[in-house]
Amino acid sequence: MDEFYHIITFGCQMNEHDSEKFGGQLELLGYQAADNPESADIILVNTCCIRDKAEQKAFSFLGRLRALKEKKKNLIIGVCGCLAQSSGAALLKRAPYIDMVIGAKSIGCLPQIINKVKIEKKAQLELGGYEYHNNRIVRGDPFRAWVTIMEGCDNYCTYCVVPYVRGREQSRPMGDIIDEIHCLSDKGCREVTLLGQNVNSYGNNLNNGAGFPYLLEKISEIQGISRIRFVTSHPKDLSLELIHKMAALPKVCNHLHLPLQSGSDRILSAMNRKYTLAAYWEKVRFLRELIPQISITSDIIVGFPGETDDDFKETLRALELIKFDSIFSFIYSDRPHTAASVLTDKVPRAKALRRFQSLIKLQEKINADRAGQMLGSSRQILVESISKTDSAKLSGRTGNNKLVHFTGSADLIGKLVDVNIIRACKNSFMGELV
Ligand code: SAH
Ligand code: SF4
Ligand code: F3S
Repeated sequence: MDEFYHIITFGCQMNEHDSEKFGGQLELLGYQAADNPESADIILVNTCCIRDKAEQKAFSFLGRLRALKEKKKNLIIGVCGCLAQSSGAALLKRAPYIDMVIGAKSIGCLPQIINKVKIEKKAQLELGGYEYHNNRIVRGDPFRAWVTIMEGCDNYCTYCVVPYVRGREQSRPMGDIIDEIHCLSDKGCREVTLLGQNVNSYGNNLNNGAGFPYLLEKISEIQGISRIRFVTSHPKDLSLELIHKMAALPKVCNHLHLPLQSGSDRILSAMNRKYTLAAYWEKVRFLRELIPQISITSDIIVGFPGETDDDFKETLRALELIKFDSIFSFIYSDRPHTAASVLTDKVPRAKALRRFQSLIKLQEKINADRAGQMLGSSRQILVESISKTDSAKLSGRTGNNKLVHFTGSADLIGKLVDVNIIRACKNSFMGELV
């Protein structure tokens, strides 16, 4: 009898990609993808715990699965990812209808755990580190692919739970990465996005001197690949060598996501970020000098413990100075195990919320200014799909990661085309095929 699986993913691109790896393992076991949880025999919820809100979202989704389990006794419900790693057995206690909890470090054990659930007919918990070999990955897009280059994080920013749930930083051998991208290229993939919590420190544990700039160079040599992206970069590890390499390698996209977190040196130090605003700004100036069309995006946290009005004003001033193309902004959220969670001078929620709103208001103005600078230019885009909002249009991204909609025929999907940017919308642009 045919059996079906369905995976729901919360969290970042690494989690999205982990779900593709889970999908691959399930297909090797003979399961087929189902469009919705109702028609699945096995449901995986791949969770995030970066902020309390992410955690609550996962719990409320899990609550909805209870009814499904009551209707369908053989249904296997698995919770995996970062919340699984951080909450472990507590999850089974809170939601006893869960059949398996598989931590973020244990992707490779999925087949064994499913087996155990079926044989022992009781809930399974697996949080250990497991070898994972990517024998199959179910990817969502034939032309663009995520490729893991490293796992874990060693930076211990004081607000962040990632080192505790994803473990120590571990770079993947370069040969494995190159082989995977060769295979992708052979199958028609055009763009790869290299994934790691801090890609700039790639190679630190490999002892062969081959760092991230060299990896970019090697990937650039792979014929069918036209575009290389990567996330995320840590400002302290962004070297001048890497900036030169980005400028010199035409396949490396003109976009850098470089989380600043705060504009106050005092807060940056309390966050254990290991750079100052001045050092950050110098790197941005160098990037813009060498790569004039580059877009730089960032993450900002407001309301870190001890953040004063003056600290916050420094963050606003930093946004005005740097003029990011866009930012993701977050209200600080206490996370278990982290150094910041035990600090006593927490910023009251209402105050943090006010800061958050004024930050967003300022950045919206800057976004509009930056967007204006794109108008009238001609850009190469990789056509991704039919537009989600207008089926008569196609959508794609520029090298500097701006979403562009334009009129064209569907056979352009997966191709690189030139468009003139004619109008700026809130989060995207309208273009015209050249
Ligand atoms: N490794 C990446 C991504 C980390 S998570 C990096 O270092 O940039 C993505 C973003 O979530 C972080 O950049 C940070 O801005 C935010 N974040 C992490 N922990 C948080 C917390 N406890 N509260 C609020 N925002 C947080
Ligand atoms: Fe978290 Fe800092 Fe590591 Fe990013 S670099 S994952 S913010 S500890
Ligand atoms: Fe990503 Fe969330 Fe884990 S941001 S690394 S899925 S805690």
